[in-house]
Amino acid sequence: MGAKLQVGVLGFGTVGSGVIHILEEHQEKISQVTGYDIAVKKVLVRDVEKARRYETNGFTLTTEPQDVLEDPEIAVIVEVMGSITTAREYILQALRAGKHVVTANKDLIALHGDELVAVAQENKCDLFYEASVAGGIPILRTIVNSLAADKIQKVMGIVNGTTNFMLTKMTEEKKTYEEALEEAQALGFAEADPTSDVDGIDAARKMVIMTRLAFGMNVQLDDVETNGIRTINKEDIEVAYQLGYKIKLVGTAEETNGSVNVNVGPVLLPRSHPLSGVNYENNAVFVTGAAVGETMFYGPGAGELPTATSVVSDLITVAKNSKLGTNGNAFNSYRHETKHTSKEQIFSKHYLRLTMVDKTGTFLKLTQIFAEAGVGFDKILQEPVDDFTASVVIVTHATSKAQLEQATKRVEEEPEMQIFTNYLVVEG
Ligand code: NAP
Ligand code: HSE
Repeated sequence: MGAKLQVGVLGFGTVGSGVIHILEEHQEKISQVTGYDIAVKKVLVRDVEKARRYETNGFTLTTEPQDVLEDPEIAVIVEVMGSITTAREYILQALRAGKHVVTANKDLIALHGDELVAVAQENKCDLFYEASVAGGIPILRTIVNSLAADKIQKVMGIVNGTTNFMLTKMTEEKKTYEEALEEAQALGFAEADPTSDVDGIDAARKMVIMTRLAFGMNVQLDDVETNGIRTINKEDIEVAYQLGYKIKLVGTAEETNGSVNVNVGPVLLPRSHPLSGVNYENNAVFVTGAAVGETMFYGPGAGELPTATSVVSDLITVAKNSKLGTNGNAFNSYRHETKHTSKEQIFSKHYLRLTMVDKTGTFLKLTQIFAEAGVGFDKILQEPVDDFTASVVIVTHATSKAQLEQATKRVEEEPEMQIFTNYLVVEG
């Protein structure tokens, strides 16, 4: 056995339990790799009486945060309790006391990452957060280390397991939105309040973190145009399928001439696209680099052991840094001026579903509106809804966001027309 590296864990829920289990199960390998016996000394919980999934021998359970944060023997804090305000406060205290920090908290890193990184640097501490994006997929270190030599052009991710599970159930098993959500909650993928999952916020936070690492730009959550899956209905799923697509909640960060555009929302993916085959709670991140071309990283985006593997990999990096005396370097040191791509420079195909009054001349008016905005049609489907109304589906040619907004704004002014769905379409 090597020297001891003592760890304080904040939280003993899904991820905390996994961390404790993996450190115990893989102790010998971890010790060989790091030269340290990484040992959990104290674990912070809300309720010490609660039944736990694993034995609590070998460490102390406490409800008093200062027992952990002020313990001079604890060199590393693992924050897996969630929340923003309290977790931020505890992490800042730990860093100021010279303790290294590992966290799985994407909400906190997306919102307060800058501040935490600065405090970690001031105190020469490590701050790692591999588990905050895509659970068990080691995507952050891949972007920061393995792809460091390349110029990343685009990152597309299915990074929310709950919504991917729901959309798979709705597409493959014809489940309703409500049935699919209930199942995702019962299986434990959804956040305590699933709003952040279904409204795309969880995915947007993960995209903010990946964008900062991939492009060096300090994007904020407000910079991400975010849409969720509440509006996706059976009709869109079926029509998209007939047209050769699957609907998935995808986060995209794309660089164009030194600026970046980040968005999260339902997109139509060609059924042959590698991301279309990512089903149920799995996640995948599709990275395009100027030199490497297209790469995809796939795996479980949540869950006890997959997420804990990422947390423990961070702990191993802290231990290795401690051995070499190289703690305190930022997880990502790549920086680039933050610039946002203008609407005129963001190009995509779009899928639109609208209803319109079924009378002579209305369709002509619709085509005129799109032609005036310079938006061309790639595909059009029209079906009668009843004697007076028609349902129209349009897939546009690649068009700028500015042009599409001009056309849809004009359509919305027409009393005979109403747009229900407007999703991006991925090509290729
Ligand atoms: P969880 O199952 O709800 O566990 C939270 C743990 O933290 C519980 O043990 C709870 O204590 C403790 N806790 C919460 N607030 C506390 C407080 N104020 N004081 C003391 N203890 C407190 O959560 P989780 O699913 O493990 O998630 C933890 C973090 O990992 C979150 O930031 C989450 O976003 C992130 N994450 C989770 C997953 C996943 O698959 N679950 C994947 C990636 C990232 P009690 O047990 O006594 O109630
Ligand atoms: N609620 C999240 C998801 C958990 O469904 O992906 C993992 O971050």
